Amino acid sequence: MAKLAIDGGSSIRPKSRKWASWPVSDAADAKLLAEITRSNTWSYDGPHEWDFAEKFTKYLGAKHGLCCANGTVAIQLALEALDIGAYDEVIVPGLTWQATAAACIDVNAVPVLVDVEADTWCLDLEKAEAAITKKTKAIVVVHLYGCMPNMIAAKRLCKKRGLFLIEDCAHQHGTFWKGKGVGTFGDIGCFSFQESKILSSGEGGFNTCTSKTLFERLYSLRNCGRGWQEDATHAVQSGNYRLTEWQAGMLLGGLRRLDKQVRHRDKNVIYLNQKLAEIPGILPMRRRKEITQQSYFNLAFRLDRRELKGVRNDAFCRALNAELHPDPWGWEPPYQPLNKCALYKPHTKRRHKLNAEYWKAINPRRFRLPAATDAYERGGVVIHHYPLLGTKRDMDDIAAAVAKVAENFEQLKGH
Ligand SMILES: Cc1ncc(COP(=O)(O)O)c(C=O)c1O
Repeated sequence: MAKLAIDGGSSIRPKSRKWASWPVSDAADAKLLAEITRSNTWSYDGPHEWDFAEKFTKYLGAKHGLCCANGTVAIQLALEALDIGAYDEVIVPGLTWQATAAACIDVNAVPVLVDVEADTWCLDLEKAEAAITKKTKAIVVVHLYGCMPNMIAAKRLCKKRGLFLIEDCAHQHGTFWKGKGVGTFGDIGCFSFQESKILSSGEGGFNTCTSKTLFERLYSLRNCGRGWQEDATHAVQSGNYRLTEWQAGMLLGGLRRLDKQVRHRDKNVIYLNQKLAEIPGILPMRRRKEITQQSYFNLAFRLDRRELKGVRNDAFCRALNAELHPDPWGWEPPYQPLNKCALYKPHTKRRHKLNAEYWKAINPRRFRLPAATDAYERGGVVIHHYPLLGTKRDMDDIAAAVAKVAENFEQLKGH
């Protein structure tokens, strides 16, 4: 029996061994940003923005694409472009970053929280179908951490029930399903370029879409209602959700590196997951066989509590942090389920109090999310993607630490 580092034993990995870091930039980025600074075009339909939009759209294999202010706004604009508004119901997975549901509230729709699959943490489509009512207008699927829902089944369901399909791709720039990029399955795809994301400009967002009509609507919505190419007949009520040329400059650099980085992480995770699968009590997440390239916002796995009786994921994470000295972000449980999420509080803004019925409908506590709750409270263990840009030895360290903590989980009682 080895003494766990959390109890004063020696750690699997020395503190002096550095992890890969994130975000990444290079001299070409700095040069381009300096050029943009010297130019007279800092925003508003700048050349770098549209150069990036064209290249990223092509990379994904999407029909149309355009930038916006951030990933939250991308979802809000998607809903507005599809004319989803007051009292409409939108199905949202119960395990995701709060923005997926908050964007629905911001257009006065009702986010209907539906549970996730236990082994992917992505929307459970059978439960989603059961939650459809006459008021349902759309389903938002989230490609969460490093898993995808069954996109063929999601498309089929939406077609059968006459619903829009929106993809929240904030976590997965560069995931391909049979060679088709995420963001190209639904009516509209939504991406985030926030600092921690795998394609980043500090802040930023992107929408993909399937038709020129939707593209023009999205364009107007992000640009104070102005019509595409100044077509006044397309004017709609909206605000300013544009991004700047500096952000576009960073995105052009990031896009040059993106596919290589995604492949590197994917190779590391395939190798690591084989090792994790051999450890009693550890369950790697399920990878659907149609996925030809998987991008990872987080690495995740689950604890099998039939093996690790009484173990809690928060204690397991603390023990892993002591073994591995992650820097800057450590191992932690996944997102809080949205029915108990500290950052999802629809009842705290008066502008959401449309009427008593709506107020009741947006109460997150009315939804039951057992799989999402189990992931957060007991079974789930995740870490941000930065270690995945590292070496095979880094993956060996992770596997060795997970094995050590799992083999000695009895020592975690009391932590
Ligand atoms: C799943 C998901 N959707 C949407 C967003 C919102 O993106 P942003 O932070 O760019 O607004 C995030 C950001 O973390 C996210 O993780």
